[in-house]
Amino acid sequence: MKKKVAVIGYGGMGAGFHCVNIRNSDIVELAGIYDINPEKCKLAEEAGIRAYSSREELLADPEVEIVVVATPNDTHEEIAVAALNAGKNVISEKPVTTSLESLERMIAAANANKKVFSVHQNRRFDVDMLAVKRIVDNREIGDPINLESRVHSSHGIPGDWRCFKKYGGGMLYDWGIHIVDQACVIFGYDIKSVQCEFDHITNDEVDDGFKLNLEFKSGVKALLEVGTYNFIELPRFYLRGTEGTALIRRWESPAEIVKCKIWKDKDVVPEMYGSGLTRTMATRNRVTVESYETPAMTSDVFDYYRNFVKACDGIEEQLVTHDQMRCVLRIIMSAFESVEKGGQKIFW
Ligand SMILES: NC(=O)c1ccc[n+]([C@@H]2O[C@H](COP(=O)([O-])OP(=O)(O)OC[C@H]3O[C@@H](n4cnc5c(N)ncnc54)[C@H](O)[C@@H]3O)[C@@H](O)[C@H]2O)c1
Repeated sequence: MKKKVAVIGYGGMGAGFHCVNIRNSDIVELAGIYDINPEKCKLAEEAGIRAYSSREELLADPEVEIVVVATPNDTHEEIAVAALNAGKNVISEKPVTTSLESLERMIAAANANKKVFSVHQNRRFDVDMLAVKRIVDNREIGDPINLESRVHSSHGIPGDWRCFKKYGGGMLYDWGIHIVDQACVIFGYDIKSVQCEFDHITNDEVDDGFKLNLEFKSGVKALLEVGTYNFIELPRFYLRGTEGTALIRRWESPAEIVKCKIWKDKDVVPEMYGSGLTRTMATRNRVTVESYETPAMTSDVFDYYRNFVKACDGIEEQLVTHDQMRCVLRIIMSAFESVEKGGQKIFW
């Protein structure tokens, strides 16, 4: 039988992603929603969705087995803990919460009630990130040296709660949590240091972009960057390995790979670039390299729900584990600390 899911917060993500996907799902069913804003409840009813009259009514419904928390970031803990204490399994939207202490209280509530509690890291299903992971896992360009992962736009911060500190606003919590999680999925959770600088181009209160340098104990480095004032965007991923380079230009594009076949390019001829002559920067002779594109990856973001349901039934480990949630949030917290300390490296 399909498990019934209720969604708290019928905004962009609650209505536009969770409710749509749950209604199209073969494994879960939408019980209804609750939103603190009566207008949103009305919209849900107009879309044929039951709107509970209060959160208490939703949590008291014995048919509801899973609660999705899709409200602003500062409210996740309070709502998730109430749902866990009511005996529900909980998927919190990202960021799971806004401090490590808060996360520990959420995990404690899940453990005390023996319920499954995880965070919705849907961007683990992005095919571009999966292509990078496959290149790294298969050592397709040798051992990884460094990764650059960027998301750029030119709209500034959406003009809502994300603009304010008290609601857990800013791009580090918003997009940062996705690309930090992806970097850990690719390279693992053994972190050596975190260093970060913020942009405040369109907003003084919270970051509207950042550059975060992550060093893994393996020696691999990652530059993770979010920009919301970039009218020309840089490529989504750039990966250097000991045997070549990989580039993914945009969301879902294939990975372009150039592998080194002959390291010493003996016949390199100096070229005139700009106002000078250079041999170092001269174009590489194409016979010394091999260039190709990797085949596209496929994924189904609804596997997140499939896994969560299996985790509720005790037959699979939850995809995003508590320790992974701890590590990713600790990176975010270290990034804030780094910014407070003027961009200092924070060693773990
Ligand atoms: N995983 C993703 O790809 C992704 C994408 C977008 C947003 N999100 C996350 O989803 C969450 C919601 O973001 P959004 O863009 O949908 O915001 P939103 O402002 O569009 O919607 C939030 C909704 O929550 C309601 N709400 C606020 N406080 C509430 C409370 N205490 N109880 C019940 N309802 C309450 C608001 O009325 C609003 O309708 C955030 O945590 C955000 O980071 C995740």
